[in-house]
This record gives sequence, C-alpha cells and structure tokens, in this order.
Amino acid sequence: MELPFSESFKIKMVEPIRKSTRAEREQWIKDAKYNLFNLKSEQVFIDLLTDSGTGAMSDRQWSAMMVGDESYAGASSYYNLKNAIKRILGFDHFLPTHQGRAAENVLFSAMIKEGDYIPGNSHFDTTKGHIEFRKAHAVDLTIDIASDTEAYHPFKGNIDTDKLEAYMAQNASKVPFIIVTVTNNTAGGQPVSMECLRKTREIANKYGKPVVFDSARFAENAYFIKIREKGYESKTIKEIVAEMYSYADAMTMSSKKDAIVNMGGFIAMRSQELWRACSTFNIMFEGYVTYGGMSGRDMNALAVGLDEGTEFEYLETRIKQVEYLGSRLTEFGIPFQTPVGGHAIFVDANKVLPNMPREQFRAQTLAIELYLEAGVRGVEIGAILADRDPETRENRYPKLELLRLAIPRRVYTNNHMEVIAVALKNVFDRRNQITRGFEITWEAPIMRHFTAELERCK
Ligand code: F0G
Repeated sequence: MELPFSESFKIKMVEPIRKSTRAEREQWIKDAKYNLFNLKSEQVFIDLLTDSGTGAMSDRQWSAMMVGDESYAGASSYYNLKNAIKRILGFDHFLPTHQGRAAENVLFSAMIKEGDYIPGNSHFDTTKGHIEFRKAHAVDLTIDIASDTEAYHPFKGNIDTDKLEAYMAQNASKVPFIIVTVTNNTAGGQPVSMECLRKTREIANKYGKPVVFDSARFAENAYFIKIREKGYESKTIKEIVAEMYSYADAMTMSSKKDAIVNMGGFIAMRSQELWRACSTFNIMFEGYVTYGGMSGRDMNALAVGLDEGTEFEYLETRIKQVEYLGSRLTEFGIPFQTPVGGHAIFVDANKVLPNMPREQFRAQTLAIELYLEAGVRGVEIGAILADRDPETRENRYPKLELLRLAIPRRVYTNNHMEVIAVALKNVFDRRNQITRGFEITWEAPIMRHFTAELERCK
C-alpha cells in the first residue's frame, strides 16, 4: 500500500485553544458589533481571519532570533537579510519596513503622483488604498474567468495581457509602473503563470515602464508554476523564483506571509537611483535604512524564513492542507473558488445565499453564521471590504462575495480542517433559513471593514 502524504515537520511547542458555547458566541459577536475583527482571540476556536503574521516559526528561525544584532546602523542582521534577498530574489538593493503596506507607502511615495493610473491584477486593498490616497487610480486587468468561481483555469490570478497591451497603447503616459500581485489574493489566492509574467515584462519594455511585484505569497505562486506550468516540473522552487523576479524591477513584500515571520516587510529593487529616492521616505516613515521598523532579531528570522519558505517540502505540506479542506467542502457540495488557491479557501457567498439582497452583505452574514456555529473566524471579501467609491461615495458591489478561510502556516492540523469543513456544512445545510443579513451602523472614511459596526437587519 502506498504511504499517505504527511507533514514535513514535527511539533515541539504548543498553545492551548478553547471551545465555547453557542450562547457565549451569540453574546460575544453582538458585543463585537457583528465585526469579527472586534472579537478577542480567546473568543475564537479556530482563527482563519488571516494567514498574515499568524504562522509558526521554526526552531531555526527562533535560534536566529537569539543572535540578532540590534545596532542602529549596519547590523549584521541587516546584512543577513540583504544577502538572502540577493541570493533568492536577485535584487541588489533593499529597504526593510515594518510590514507590507509600509513598503507600499514608501515605494509609492517615490513613484506615484496625483492623476496616475496603475494597471495590475486585483490590487490588494492596502495597495489600492495607498494608490487612491495619492489621488491616483488602480486599474484592475485580471482575466475575466477569475470571477467565475466554478470555471477551471490553472492560473486564475493572471493579468489579461491583451487588455494590458490595449490599455498601455492608450494610456502609457499616465502609468508610472505596472504592478503584479503574486499570488492574486483578491481573486482567491490564485497564481500568475510564468508566461504571464514574461509577457507583462515584454509589454512594460515596449512602453519603457518598470514592473513591480506585490510579493506577499510569491513562493506559493512558484509552487503552482512547478505543479501546473509546462517546462517547470523538474525545476526547484528557488530556480522558479529566480526566473519570476528576472521579470521585475522592484518588489514590495509583506514578510508576514510566505517568509513566515510574525511582523516585517521590505522593498527591493534593481535601481540604485530608486533606492535613493525611497531611502528618504523610509527614514521619515519607517526608520534608518538598515532597520526600517524591524529589530535585528526579526530581520534574522526573516532571512531564514525566506529560505525555508522557498523549500518544496514546506510548500507542499502547506498547500496540500488547503487542498484537503477544499476536498472536504467539495464532498459537501459547498461552492468555493476553484481550483483551491495557495493560502485560503474562498467560499462563494453569492451561491450560498443567492436570495439575500447584496445590500445585506452576504459574505459577512456567512462569516457570522460560521462563527456562531463553531467559533471559526473567517473574513469577508465582499462589499464591505470593497468600500465606497472615493469620488461618488457610493457603495461598490464587487462581482464576487467571498468568505475567506485563510489557513495560517504550520499552525493547525488536518483535524482542525475537519472541524472547519463540518461546521461549514452545518451552516450550508440550513442556508434556506438564513434570510436576514446585516446593515452598517457606523463606518470609517477609508478601509471601513476593520472597524465598521453592524446590526442584523429587521
Ligand atoms: N499585498 C497583499 C497581496 C496582501 O495580501 C497584503 C496583506 C498586503 C499587500 C499588505 O501587507 O498586511 O503586511 O501590511 N494581506 C493580509 C491578508 C492583511 O489578510 O490578506 P501587510
């Protein structure tokens, strides 16, 4: 008999988690104004709010922390990270930042001005926020099939390069750079093919524009290229990563994802001139150029994390766990974005609650029901997150209303996946009784999803 697949690690430190009763959860979510961000972590049994900064570091990462160098300038930890970035991603210059959005803030301060247009594939909400904050515009050119959750495409995160070419032909003068997000989080953790990265590079070259990769889940993207793209089967993840970045001029990184640290980020680039321009903003917003908001020990852990995060065995364990959860949901007939993405399952709330008016926030309603059912916390990727149009102030209703179940790295076992799947099945089985959604009673002027307060519709 063939041996089953199993994890490529064993566990040497654990943290207890506690179950609660439905009555307790009813009270807690009411007190939280029906916003899952307002829950205390102890009120959550299995936390799938995000895979960002929630991973478990390895023994190698923890030991690297112990030899961190906390010198203000020129710390050895900075050079450890610089060397890892050069070796794995190929960039000569980099700046540490405290997380991904800080990297966006620094890079965009140097590259974006009012009235600019930044084409890309489903810009993440902080990316879009930093673009719109500068009175510039994010232009989403993701392939159309990405919004059909049942359709199969091996690289559903792709930018539509025909649309990109047509867009550049008309608007190149207002475009400071093209951004490609790997993997495409908003479309469901879907990968971008090497072919698409190569074509994007060619178009950028034709119009003389730089290409920036938003790189939060670049290693998971490389895994999918190895598994799904012809010609890459026998390449190592590090070889694939090296080719991916040969098509980029710069990158922003939220290290809290694929570099498996709890906090941290960076910008890396080829151009020394761009590095100089960014350094000024880095010093103002983040910290001196050799620490930029990170302690030395954290830069050390990040350097090791970049290495571990680009190892095939680790990525295979990671993505097979997400696929396992997906396979259980498929057995229960629950609709979600297929194929399964790298870091999360995105349940299609439009298909689960088709009769609920979209103004009542279908995905948020589903997220609350799942929490009430089993203390599992997911997150809404729908109309609340899509926010209002900055000019008209009208609500934006995206094509997809998704409940994201993001799986932290190296944290939960497949028994936890089993609990999540059955909890969601129970909600799904009583979906016809879920008729009342939610309305917003208070919201912030930008990025409202974090702090919005809601009430159940009458
Ligand atoms: N880019 C992408 C694709 C992201 O997914 C995130 C964060 C960021 C940039 C910003 O990085 O959080 O370190 O400031 N995504 C998290 C999530 C928050 O839950 O998907 P950050």
